[in-house]
Amino acid sequence: MDGRTLLMHQVMLSDGERLRAYDLALRESINPGDVVADLGAGMLALSFLALRHGAGHVFAVEGDPDTAAMAARIAESNGLADRLTVVRGDARKVRLPVPADVVVGELMGNLGPEEEMPETFAEFAADNLAEGGRVVPGRLTTDLTAIQFDGEGWGVWSEDFLGYDLRAVQEHAAPGPQLHFFQRDPLPLSRSVPAVTADLGAKAPSASGEVHELPITRPGTLHAVMGSFTAAFTPGVSLSNFPSYPGCNWAVWIWPLRHTAVAPGDVLGVRLHRPESVRDVAEWRLDCGIVRRKERT
Ligand SMILES: C[S@@+](CC[C@H](N)C(=O)[O-])C[C@H]1O[C@@H](n2cnc3c(N)ncnc32)[C@H](O)[C@@H]1O
Repeated sequence: MDGRTLLMHQVMLSDGERLRAYDLALRESINPGDVVADLGAGMLALSFLALRHGAGHVFAVEGDPDTAAMAARIAESNGLADRLTVVRGDARKVRLPVPADVVVGELMGNLGPEEEMPETFAEFAADNLAEGGRVVPGRLTTDLTAIQFDGEGWGVWSEDFLGYDLRAVQEHAAPGPQLHFFQRDPLPLSRSVPAVTADLGAKAPSASGEVHELPITRPGTLHAVMGSFTAAFTPGVSLSNFPSYPGCNWAVWIWPLRHTAVAPGDVLGVRLHRPESVRDVAEWRLDCGIVRRKERT
């Protein structure tokens, strides 16, 4: 396995909140003896949780050949040959020998759908989910929020940096997304608005094209629109990359904007564009326009 892939798994396995959410959800979703399919099984973290909660057999589906080989070695060295089968292949094409009572997977990207979780779950479930089967998580949402984040990220290009004006830099920065781990929480200038909602296991929704309105709820300086995801598991259990938590392995997606004074009553119109190379979150785009309160009255 290459070092980059190993490091990615190392970071994911160190994200305790992520594992905690799956642990709680699988505890509630698995009945003793259930067949569980783990889509994008990686180093088998979710497969282990499924076994711990009583799965009779786990099919660990992994598309990357080196990762699948490593997963098979881990299974073997843990004496799991009779309870876990590593299936090497794209989960969208796999046919299991028996239907799965529970389908679980973690394919969330910074924005939510860019690792094609909705499509992968839908295609897999159509061929392999037992009638009455459960899907974990059940729903994936992409939220957009207008934010101000002084002194951090795009917010650093301000009119007062050590008493000097850095706004000239704003003129030279081409629009494009940034991934950001906040040092301090940003100031939300609007509520979070769901831009894409996917019921996992069902037909995947279109992830672009619709215009959404972000009504400004407090006065401030608009620095960016933030994209984040929420995965909803069981009632009361969800996982999101905003607000962040210690050890969170997902940055949020930031679309920087020219600094603009805004006030309640203004409305930011936004439209998310999904690119051809859907998996590259740096290729996603946002159209933005602001309607001033004065123009609306
Ligand atoms: C975010 S990691 C999650 C790994 C593991 N489930 C965990 O929670 O630690 C996603 C894994 O899914 C695999 N993957 C992505 N798309 C896939 C697909 N369509 N079919 C099978 N595996 C896939 C990747 O190779 C990677 O190992």
